[in-house]
Amino acid sequence: MITAIRGFNDILPGDSEIWRHIEESAYRIFSTYGFSEIKLPIVEKTELFLRSIGETTDIVEKEMYTFPDRHGDLLTLRPEGTASAVRAYIEHKLYTAPVTKLYYTGPMFRYERPQKGRYRQFYQIGAEVLGDDSPRADAEALEMLMRLFGRINLKGVTLQINSLGCPDCRPVYKEKLLNFLKDKTGELCENCVRRIDTNPLRALDCKSPGCIEATKNAPSIIESLCENCKTHFEKVQYYLKLSGLTPALNPRMVRGLDYYTKTTFEITAEGLGSQNTVAAGGRYDGLVSELGGPKTPCFGFAIGIERVALILKEEGIESRPLSVFISLGTEAEAKGVELVSGWREKGIRVVEEFSEGPLKNRMKRADRLGARYVIILGENELNSGVVAIKDMVAATQETLPWDKIAQRISAQ
Ligand code: HAM
Repeated sequence: MITAIRGFNDILPGDSEIWRHIEESAYRIFSTYGFSEIKLPIVEKTELFLRSIGETTDIVEKEMYTFPDRHGDLLTLRPEGTASAVRAYIEHKLYTAPVTKLYYTGPMFRYERPQKGRYRQFYQIGAEVLGDDSPRADAEALEMLMRLFGRINLKGVTLQINSLGCPDCRPVYKEKLLNFLKDKTGELCENCVRRIDTNPLRALDCKSPGCIEATKNAPSIIESLCENCKTHFEKVQYYLKLSGLTPALNPRMVRGLDYYTKTTFEITAEGLGSQNTVAAGGRYDGLVSELGGPKTPCFGFAIGIERVALILKEEGIESRPLSVFISLGTEAEAKGVELVSGWREKGIRVVEEFSEGPLKNRMKRADRLGARYVIILGENELNSGVVAIKDMVAATQETLPWDKIAQRISAQ
């Protein structure tokens, strides 16, 4: 038997309905905030990711799927979407509009150790606001994200924020942190020691027990922010409060990508174990100019669809219940064609059970098909203009007129 590659998953029926529910809810909400979809390629020139994500990040150092094509050009399966969105923004001169709001969805690829909630091919829904330096843009994007999580009923959601400063104040903090860490190199892991001069902030994010212990009392980046970054960060918190959001401050939060400036954030949810970050992102005011475009302040985020879907599945959400229709006898069968067609017109997800035989067996088949509701039309029902409808989860049965069925099912 040939199986799928480890870390690359099939998304099967049953799960795909939950995925669609998440994606459609996101598109609907994002569009009310003025976002439009951009479809991006999944392969880009390797150089794009080296220059945007940063050469000393885990992603670039050890997680990219990079290969030469038949002409020897070095290509990479995208590990994330922001770099591509920014490349497209510059390439197609989208910056002629004062603000551009884009969202995208699709697979990303990282050579990570697979475990629950962490895969080598995983899907993100990403959103980017390009051309807005206002702290309101940060807060609004976060509000939109939290609105989505509220709408799909994601439980135990926590928002953590930090500010990583700007090219003026981050070097000052880096120096402070470096001086602090220099005395502790004996406790740090090999990786962090190697990166200490180029990227000392990584040590704050490292999961090795030695690094956690060594950085316990490290200086806080929030206390090192310049006036401009400090004011921006305070305003973001003010606007978040106006939206009814109360984030936790986490000065140790270092994102795994180097392009961030000022606000960064992570959202975690309950029920996933260690891979519990369901969405993350922040501001990246330098990336567009870094990649050759005009100076453009930006804010964005990405949601990990597998992780959100895992939680919703464990919560037992049913986004589109399946109904199975059973008709008994030739006349009911004829009326059934009309009824089923009418329900489908109204958006009811209904399949007809065609087998012959005792009702008991057909009910069993309906159950194995995954029916939430079984709708039965026999001779008596036909004569009275009703159907019997059985709720397979609640184990209840009722009789309803034909024109009330759609309403009854979609009310769930
Ligand atoms: P990221 O934090 O690398 O950010 O990924 C965002 C989300 O993708 C994570 O919070 C997680 O839910 C999901 N994710 C990441 N890696 C995996 C994996 N191996 N398996 C399953 N899910 C995963 C970015 O990618 C940035 N581009 C976000 C951004 C957009 N920043 C600004 N704009």
